[in-house]
Amino acid sequence: MAGREPRNPLREGMSDDRAPDAGALVIFGASGDLARRKLLPALYNLYLERWLPGAFAIVGVARRPMGDAEFASTMHAAVAEHSRRSLDATLWEELASRMSYIATDFEDPQGYARLRMHLEQLDRERGTGGNRLYYLATPPSAFPAIVLRLGEAGLHRAGPGGRWVRIVVEKPVGRDLASARELNETINRYFPERSVFRIDHYLGKETVQNLMVFRFANAIFEPLWNRQYVDHVQITVAESLGVEGRGRYYEEAGATRDMVQNHMFQLLCLTAMEPPVSLAADAIRDEKVKVLHALRPPEAARVAEDSVRAQYVAGVVGGRRVPGYREEPAVAADSRTETYVALRVFLDNWRWAGTPFYLRSGKRMPKRVSEVALQFRDVPHRLFGTGGRRPVPNTLAVRIQPDEGITLRFDAKVPGPQPRIQPVTMEFRYGTSFGQEPPEAYERLLLDAWLGDATLFIRRDEVEASWAFVDQLFAAWEALGPEAPLAEYPAGSWGPSEADVMLARDGRQWRRP
Ligand code: BG6
Repeated sequence: MAGREPRNPLREGMSDDRAPDAGALVIFGASGDLARRKLLPALYNLYLERWLPGAFAIVGVARRPMGDAEFASTMHAAVAEHSRRSLDATLWEELASRMSYIATDFEDPQGYARLRMHLEQLDRERGTGGNRLYYLATPPSAFPAIVLRLGEAGLHRAGPGGRWVRIVVEKPVGRDLASARELNETINRYFPERSVFRIDHYLGKETVQNLMVFRFANAIFEPLWNRQYVDHVQITVAESLGVEGRGRYYEEAGATRDMVQNHMFQLLCLTAMEPPVSLAADAIRDEKVKVLHALRPPEAARVAEDSVRAQYVAGVVGGRRVPGYREEPAVAADSRTETYVALRVFLDNWRWAGTPFYLRSGKRMPKRVSEVALQFRDVPHRLFGTGGRRPVPNTLAVRIQPDEGITLRFDAKVPGPQPRIQPVTMEFRYGTSFGQEPPEAYERLLLDAWLGDATLFIRRDEVEASWAFVDQLFAAWEALGPEAPLAEYPAGSWGPSEADVMLARDGRQWRRP
């Protein structure tokens, strides 16, 4: 079929190999939540902006029996509801004409035989060129079966005339180091590491990518970005949502596995890493993994001081009464799963030795806000009085979401004859500076996977290094015994008082972002 000519703005000023090749995207778990809420809306927006190649096809694969037309109409409803831009009927028809669906059990070899025939037919009739992009958007328990069946069916190789096959793997990659290794080995049996794209959707967020630009495209911040000038760093990922019907999953995960092992550690890596030698995917990932290797391992003797685990009880969020975690569906009445975690971690390297990084993440906090804040050291000698108030340290806060931007807080003189000073902020906001809100993370990530650019995806050694830390953390917690304290916080609060005490011991306090 004649495709729309790809716009390919990525090509402007760049070599032609950044043009997305023709190919087929196969989404396993296509009837699920992720496909409906994130993937199809992202594909629609990419199509609308003409980022996709001229010839492509989208093949949904899932257990639910339905035909091509029903699949397309289900996705129409999903895109209408979740797309950041409104749906244009003509464009949607064009996109829908490239969509098809295969119903199969993920274990069933016959399903993969049908998929293979279907993909070859698309190569002939739609010009998809033998290139394949598989997307594992199923529950993680299905990942090994899908990978193995793909391999057994020879689908890990490109189709006739094709140049590449890639596989995108959603989180979680394992639930500890052993299971992550096992899954990675299964994947690498058929898919070499260069064709594996492990997703952490935080890396697709514009503000997260901007951390590197901010640090390494400007000369003025990097000289200050170290233990000599930075007193400490706070990384906050707060959510106002609860577990939203995902009680079963969350009981197994908890805040540490759900948020810290992946998203928060990625923020930590980008904040703390050394400048990479180039923008090549591996140059960046080499530096990130060094940060994880520099993390001081948790120990039973210190873990009570260096961490706080807590669970929310009933409270009020956004003016609405909400139940406690233990009252949520599919959550045990005596659950000890943490919905909030705060950690004090240290990086044992030259840049950061002795500088604490405080990490916290929780569900049912007063609002949804994620930020990385560097608090600088106080002046060596105070010349100006603060009028009795506590001096406000210089702080650089990178707001990941919402109200994306960066603020720098410093002291300024209040106009008038008195030598009075007051903290003020200098601000950069995406909305104001660029006149647009940042696009959805999944748009960027899908496009990059299609282009074969692995920069924003997690390499095997990264995921394993972060699980190694998390395993040690859980071992340290277990050593405290089954009765070790699990703090409580009312839904709608900024977390348990124990977390405030943790910082107060260091003479510091949490920000209220
Ligand atoms: C997911 C977690 O990875 O990230 C969820 O499983 C969490 O529990 C979500 O709500 C947060 O993502 P975002 O983009 O809304 O910050």
